[in-house]
Amino acid sequence: MTEIALSIEHLHKSYGDSTILNDLNLQVKEGEVVVVVGPSGCGKSTLLRCINGLEPIQSGEIQVNGQTIQQSGKDLLLLRQKIGMVFQHYALFPHLTVLENILLAPLKVQKRSRPEVEKEARALLERVGLLDKADRYPHQLSGGQKQRVAIVRALCMQPEILLFDEVTAALDPEMVREVLEVLIDLADQGKTMIVVTHEMAFARAVADRVIFIEAGVIREENTPEAFFESPKTERAKQFLQSFTYHRHRKK
Ligand SMILES: Nc1ncnc2c1ncn2[C@@H]1O[C@H](COP(=O)(O)OP(=O)(O)O)[C@@H](O)[C@H]1O
Ligand SMILES: [Mg+2]
Repeated sequence: MTEIALSIEHLHKSYGDSTILNDLNLQVKEGEVVVVVGPSGCGKSTLLRCINGLEPIQSGEIQVNGQTIQQSGKDLLLLRQKIGMVFQHYALFPHLTVLENILLAPLKVQKRSRPEVEKEARALLERVGLLDKADRYPHQLSGGQKQRVAIVRALCMQPEILLFDEVTAALDPEMVREVLEVLIDLADQGKTMIVVTHEMAFARAVADRVIFIEAGVIREENTPEAFFESPKTERAKQFLQSFTYHRHRKK
């Protein structure tokens, strides 16, 4: 039987009077890749931040491998280590080398031994093609390279679930691919992932399941083939059409 890695039940999240996520339910199986798409402001980042315990929720329950995410306390810190999150802005420490950036949390937070973590970090850097950059500083790297370091930093915590929030949105087009290929590699390795992206070709390739959120509600949930070829709802159709262009030339 496949284990449920993440379970969200009746999640309600609001900021003040405005409801952001409204009775949201989602289950993610171990090894599953769920891609979350939807218009800007629909609540995608908020959802990831709730899963990572970065946002208080008003009601509902979020469980990671059967453990409920509490709002605060020691348990939250422990649980958060099981969840790796990578954002649009990589937020590497500028005064630390690539390797030191990666080692920081495993050594300081997880109290693991340096030789062990360093070995793992180097293996991960090699896997994303950046072993030769281990002793560089962030400002000496391209955006795509920095983002791959940020992914390695998250992986080095040995998380059980990986959350990616528009990790290529700030990159030049030629760097998008090198980062998305790392995500596809992770998916092939069987990692459990929730990926928010506007890269539709990538979404279709990497997803086991696509979730379309609109106004804080899951409007549609389907296989990538079904979602991209025959969306069920008018809103999803409109959303997908916003990625195509037409020009009506005068004859
Ligand atoms: N810290 C906050 N305080 C108040 N409103 C917020 C905050 N963060 C996000 N929002 C609002 O929540 C809604 C969803 O935002 P977000 O989750 O960032 O959307 P998405 O990632 O899908 O673009 C938006 O209307 C946004 O303005
Ligand atoms: Mg967002």
